[in-house]
Amino acid sequence: MNIKDATVLVTGGNRGLGKELVQKFLDAGARKVYVGSRTPIETSDPRLQPIKLDVTNEEDVKAAAEVARDVNILINNAGIASFASVLTAPSMQRAHEEMETNYFGTLAMIRAFAPILKKNGGGAIVDILSVLSWFTTPLTAAYSASKAAALQLTESARIELRSQGTQVIAVHLGYMDTDMAADINAPKVSPAAVADKIIEGIINEQEEVLADQRSQHVKAALASDKKAFYQTIQAEWNKTEQPV
Ligand SMILES: NC(=O)c1ccc[n+]([C@@H]2O[C@H](COP(=O)([O-])OP(=O)(O)OC[C@H]3O[C@@H](n4cnc5c(N)ncnc54)[C@H](OP(=O)(O)O)[C@@H]3O)[C@@H](O)[C@H]2O)c1
Repeated sequence: MNIKDATVLVTGGNRGLGKELVQKFLDAGARKVYVGSRTPIETSDPRLQPIKLDVTNEEDVKAAAEVARDVNILINNAGIASFASVLTAPSMQRAHEEMETNYFGTLAMIRAFAPILKKNGGGAIVDILSVLSWFTTPLTAAYSASKAAALQLTESARIELRSQGTQVIAVHLGYMDTDMAADINAPKVSPAAVADKIIEGIINEQEEVLADQRSQHVKAALASDKKAFYQTIQAEWNKTEQPV
């Protein structure tokens, strides 16, 4: 679909990938971008509409859907990640929070905006997932569970919304150079490169965007030999210091 003259809503649009996407949509000719964030951004750009939007807050989601009635591209980008074992974390609170934000937040946004997209001709929903929606490690189990749930939601929404002409895109990537992965010492893709792939995916009407080399490699490795893939993860885990 066309980006030119589109009206876009980006959740978590204040920093990281969300902020990059906001700029890339403007560069690609979007007419208006609603920048959803827990603390509304300040801007003098008339094409940007800041909107207070915590995706875990029902009232915020409802209010956003009342205001942003002209949206035809919804980007579910807001996300959180913790890197800790779900078995030994002091409580399950963080695991609940990840599910609330990454899965239920995305679900709430799709439920609220699907009728708006329908009214506006179909449009597109882009869900920012991860390679960790396909596999997990002990330190990412809660995040992976939430992204795997979001992947299933993406697939079911695609089937359900096809008849109203809504394109539903799953975006996968490995580590990206944002605050979320600041403490990770590994190769990272730039948010700008990921945003470019997403825009390309919307224009080319793709159902899946593999936004970096890591996502392409992981997808191929899991398809060919999942057992060997997990043996590598097990070997890495065995090298770490574990609680006795
Ligand atoms: N960075 C990576 O390595 C990586 C890899 C794969 C996938 N991803 C995914 O890419 C997406 C963007 O992440 P990022 O790397 O840009 O992370 P980031 O720099 O940590 O930014 C996260 C964004 O999500 C927002 N957010 C968190 N909880 C929210 C909520 N309840 N309601 C609304 N906004 C909320 C944050 O807002 P505040 O400023 O208010 O906190 C922030 O704008 C996420 O879905 C993430 O899971 C990231």
